[in-house]
Amino acid sequence: MTFLPLRTVIYCLFLVGLWYGPVSAGVDREKLLTDSGVYGSFAVFALDDQWGKIDSSIRIARLATLKGVVEQHREHVAIDLYLLRGLSDHADVLFRIHAMELRDIQAFLLDLKSSQFGRHLKTAGIMHGLTKKPTYVPGFSEQTKADLMSPSEPGPKPYVIVIPVKKSAEWWGLDREKQAAMMQEHTVAALPYLKTVKRKLYHSTGLDDIDFITYFETSKLEDFHSLVLSLEKVKEFQYVRRLGHPTLLGVLQSVDEIIESLVQ
Ligand code: HEM
Repeated sequence: MTFLPLRTVIYCLFLVGLWYGPVSAGVDREKLLTDSGVYGSFAVFALDDQWGKIDSSIRIARLATLKGVVEQHREHVAIDLYLLRGLSDHADVLFRIHAMELRDIQAFLLDLKSSQFGRHLKTAGIMHGLTKKPTYVPGFSEQTKADLMSPSEPGPKPYVIVIPVKKSAEWWGLDREKQAAMMQEHTVAALPYLKTVKRKLYHSTGLDDIDFITYFETSKLEDFHSLVLSLEKVKEFQYVRRLGHPTLLGVLQSVDEIIESLVQ
């Protein structure tokens, strides 16, 4: 068995990334992450049993193909990676992919799966959603709207939590004012946590079996725990039919960090 220092491995992988062609300017990542009308897919994978058995030098070579595929698709999709391994019992890695077209996400996932690294990935789940302009916020009180604009604490928020949500048919049958009043209550209960929890909402009705994918970043998991407990007390929660199943908890990592984690 050959063992190389990890720094050498990462440097080699950087070179391999360059080998996969000129590094393009890539998509406007900032725009994809903030605009409405953008598709967001969450693809969860577990490494197969073979992965741990192959020689580390082969693992390194296979991981280089992950970096190559990510580079190849940078022009059309924004890719974020999360390490679930160690925190999740059924998966190792989560890809969050944003694009203007769902088929660009599909093209990335197909290339990933057919790469030498991807052949070791077993799909644990894929969820799709779409970002939209806020439905209820425009009707909220001026104070709540202003509070929602308050910035979150600076500094890294390494933990990521993804929770799929499905609401009942009864919720969808309510008139807009009733829904808005309950969503304002939801928001007021959640506002104290806005400093330490960053949120993003994806709409999935019709694209998946769920209605929403909720995505959060935080450095304070205890705050996130208290936030969910607070939301479970508001009236709107009575219309939630599915919360989680699965709840995904992981740590945000760069491609190089993921490679370093999975090479071991
Ligand atoms: C920082 C904490 C949070 C804040 C400030 C917050 C605020 C909001 C706001 C303002 C909306 C309405 C968006 C619109 O107008 O379309 C909303 C929707 C939603 N939130 Fe939260 N939220 C927080 C945490 C959570 C958590 C922890 C969950 C569940 C785990 C959650 C689940 C949802 C869902 C499913 C919707 C969509 C509901 C619907 O449109 O029927 N939120 N949230």
